[in-house]
Amino acid sequence: MKSAITHRRGIPFFYKKTALEFQQDVYERYDEMVVRQSALHLADELWASYPFQPIFDFAEKYYPVETLQQVETLQCSVSSKTEINILEIGCSIGRWIATLAKRYPTSTCWGIDYSYQMLKRANEYWIEGKEISIDLTNKGLPKQTIKGETLNNLKFGLAKAENLPFDDNSQDLILNSFLIDRLENPMQGLQEMYRILKPNGKLIVITPLNFNNAAHWKIYYPPIQLSNILKGIGFEILDWKDDIIVNEPLDFHKNMVHWKCLGFVVKKV
Ligand SMILES: C[S@@+](CC[C@H](N)C(=O)[O-])C[C@H]1O[C@@H](n2cnc3c(N)ncnc32)[C@H](O)[C@@H]1O
Repeated sequence: MKSAITHRRGIPFFYKKTALEFQQDVYERYDEMVVRQSALHLADELWASYPFQPIFDFAEKYYPVETLQQVETLQCSVSSKTEINILEIGCSIGRWIATLAKRYPTSTCWGIDYSYQMLKRANEYWIEGKEISIDLTNKGLPKQTIKGETLNNLKFGLAKAENLPFDDNSQDLILNSFLIDRLENPMQGLQEMYRILKPNGKLIVITPLNFNNAAHWKIYYPPIQLSNILKGIGFEILDWKDDIIVNEPLDFHKNMVHWKCLGFVVKKV
């Protein structure tokens, strides 16, 4: 893995983000983005259930087989340990990768994002075990205070999906949700994911295909085009579903954004 260029509050930076890039990045806006992502991903009680659960339900069939990992862990005493490396790209507050870190306590898990503010919150909550408060009273919701956890197999770092700091053939499972339609160069991001996956490693991509760029609509839409791009990079398609519905709540009245997501599970061959 590449060395970090610098650290801020314990978070390694693998990309030198300039003051202008900080200023222009909407995901660095604390009140609008970090508070909202924290509420969506950490405060399930606000919504009665976790709004992104449909993504987990689709993806979990493709997680590493637990019994196999237990066997590998047991074998550690007599042979070398088979390490499972799991990475989420565009992890924001880190809920998905933290779920995997808890499920596979002997794995090494990384959450990578381009927003320092998101990573700071993720680090405080999942690694430092801090208590955080979420104030969405401007949306009619009650204030929440929630206590974090202290996961010791999880790390967070700042990097761009298009230039990942991991070695070739190093990851067993890569996850991302609501990311690829936000990238300046989705193709480069997908090629990077291919480069760092181990042979037979899996990539799970969840995207609402909500591109903000006319050229990207032409290249990656409809889903068959994205499928062909993934095959062209060298992936084998294991599964896909084009109606993973995520209802993102907006306020106490339960106004919602209805996301129709496409999910791909692909394997590096
Ligand atoms: C729409 S949010 C999705 C967050 C989370 N994955 C989810 O499903 O709610 C997009 C996230 O991707 C991150 N992001 C945007 N561009 C990125 C890039 N080039 N590389 C890595 N992360 C990026 C943002 O900072 C933000 O946290």
